[in-house]
Amino acid sequence: MSTAGRIPKEFIDQLLTRVDIIEVIGARVPLKKAGREYMACCPFHNEKTPSFTVSPTKQFYHCFGCGVHGSAISFLMEYEHLEYVEAIEALARSAGVQVPREGAEDAPKRKRVGKDVYALMEESVAWFQSQLKQSPSAREYLQKRGLSAEVITLFGVGYAPAGWDNLGRHLAHYGNDKLLETGMATRNEAGKVYDRFRERIMFPIRDKRGRVIGFGGRVLGNDTPKYLNSPETDIFHKGSELYGLFEARQHTRKLERLLVVEGYMDVIALAQYGITYAVATLGTATTPEHVRQLFRVVPEIIFCFDGDRAGKQAAWRALENSLSELQDDKNVRFLFLPTGEDPDTHIRQIGKEAFETALDKALPLTKFFLIGLNAQLGFRENYTLNVMEDRTRFVKEAAGLLAKMPNILQKKQLMPELVRLGYLDEGQKKIFKSYSPAPQDEPSAGNWRLNEQEVRRTPMRHAIALLLNYPALAHDVGNPEQWARYDIPGIDLFLAILEIIEADPTIHTAALVERFRGTQHARVLARLNSGQFQYEADSDVPAREFRDCLGQIRRQAQQKQLDVLLQREQVEGLTEQERNDLLCLLSEVHKSAG
Ligand code: CTP
Ligand code: MN
Repeated sequence: MSTAGRIPKEFIDQLLTRVDIIEVIGARVPLKKAGREYMACCPFHNEKTPSFTVSPTKQFYHCFGCGVHGSAISFLMEYEHLEYVEAIEALARSAGVQVPREGAEDAPKRKRVGKDVYALMEESVAWFQSQLKQSPSAREYLQKRGLSAEVITLFGVGYAPAGWDNLGRHLAHYGNDKLLETGMATRNEAGKVYDRFRERIMFPIRDKRGRVIGFGGRVLGNDTPKYLNSPETDIFHKGSELYGLFEARQHTRKLERLLVVEGYMDVIALAQYGITYAVATLGTATTPEHVRQLFRVVPEIIFCFDGDRAGKQAAWRALENSLSELQDDKNVRFLFLPTGEDPDTHIRQIGKEAFETALDKALPLTKFFLIGLNAQLGFRENYTLNVMEDRTRFVKEAAGLLAKMPNILQKKQLMPELVRLGYLDEGQKKIFKSYSPAPQDEPSAGNWRLNEQEVRRTPMRHAIALLLNYPALAHDVGNPEQWARYDIPGIDLFLAILEIIEADPTIHTAALVERFRGTQHARVLARLNSGQFQYEADSDVPAREFRDCLGQIRRQAQQKQLDVLLQREQVEGLTEQERNDLLCLLSEVHKSAG
């Protein structure tokens, strides 16, 4: 299949202007008119009273319950489990227009994967399943492991028989290149191509839309390696895929929590015993990307590990990689099983009810944070930090971890605990100062700077949020060049938004936000544009707030320039030009203060 070019930005803008989000969502979720907006019970979380709103003017949806929001494109991606380009294609189809592509030289780097790749994987699953039926030893093994016929079918478990080219011959019509590209075959030094999976129980791994993207294969006996997984391919990315996620979502439309375990057999055994919401990472540590994927589906993740040292260590890594993804309404908890048990063996012993009781009591992240921190530093539990060096290490470690967290409630709860546990004196406490209720901008102290990731409502952030929601405010900004001089965090994004609005003054919120999909700004935008602006169409509040913000930003920028110049004057003296600038600044600052 040829590589298709990029879809022009202008086309996406036009498409979003052409389709009506009310129709797109209304066709799938019953919407009720409420004032200027439309409401529904949120299709992405469980609720009895509607908090999902759709705005015809902004062409944007937002749920006040679970926080999901976005354009018609995002809606289709989430609701229909489509990829970005597929969602655009679906919208274009409904609007009766063709999706244009830019020239091939602009083609995105990532290859588009041909349909036959997925077909090859699907045919492999079917073949492995048929082989399982014909292999008494494989069936006996699964029986010994206690797997019911039902879950074997549900998870598509199969068997790759002994021999070097059984699958290869069965799929010969695809050609060796495809077999190698999908990782189903491998090549030895002599150049001979042969089946990767031989004499193994086969677990198909599906993406969130149910397409088979890889396999895990387990030996029947005690050979090594015990498990063999598909390699990374164009369609299989271990850092972001989770085994069992598709099956869990198939089983329950609105999941409330997901359990993360280590193995294929754990996911399957849990499902067999009625815990149909477990997923597994694919022989890798949990990544922030995994956590992000899971939080798109549920507000709560419970990591389940063996209670031994290795399990604790794996749990700690999961904690570290979760921190950046936490939100006030997104939680992570930890369940430790008795040493030597994994979920597979444990659920068979204690059953669903007792297992769920244990899940309900799983450790909140903040608790495990405090326990695990001590362990990481090699201190025993409840160790009193009465040695100065120990306190320093403790504070450094804690500060590094807190820096990864957005400024959420859980972080604020951890602060006083850390201060208490660390027996921090006044000087050391300062390290955590940026979390106090009224944060002060103060020069940061080297590595211990904590406030980098905070999404605090700075005037700049507020201005950007207002501009997104009320693009017409761009009129009030004046000459953008004047702003370009200011060295204020966020100014790049601010100017980029202004530029888009200038080119198309009728652009609405959804199209604006879409422009930044996949850019470095996307996450900040997603957090800023969280539907908090509900003013009447003729309200002058947004304009007033916007002017206030601009004033504050200007003063902040001028003050900063002033500081730089004054400092330089003391140290090395100023050029004529700089002296002029200084005088201008002084008079401006004086004016705006008066
Ligand atoms: N794993 C792997 N490669 C290995 C060993 C393990 O990819 N050589 C991954 C697999 O995803 C496996 C998980 O790590 O499911 C857990 O491994 P382990 O605890 O050894 O296996 P179990 O799932 O307990 O397997 P079983 O119960 O079948 O022995
Ligand atoms: Mn096991």
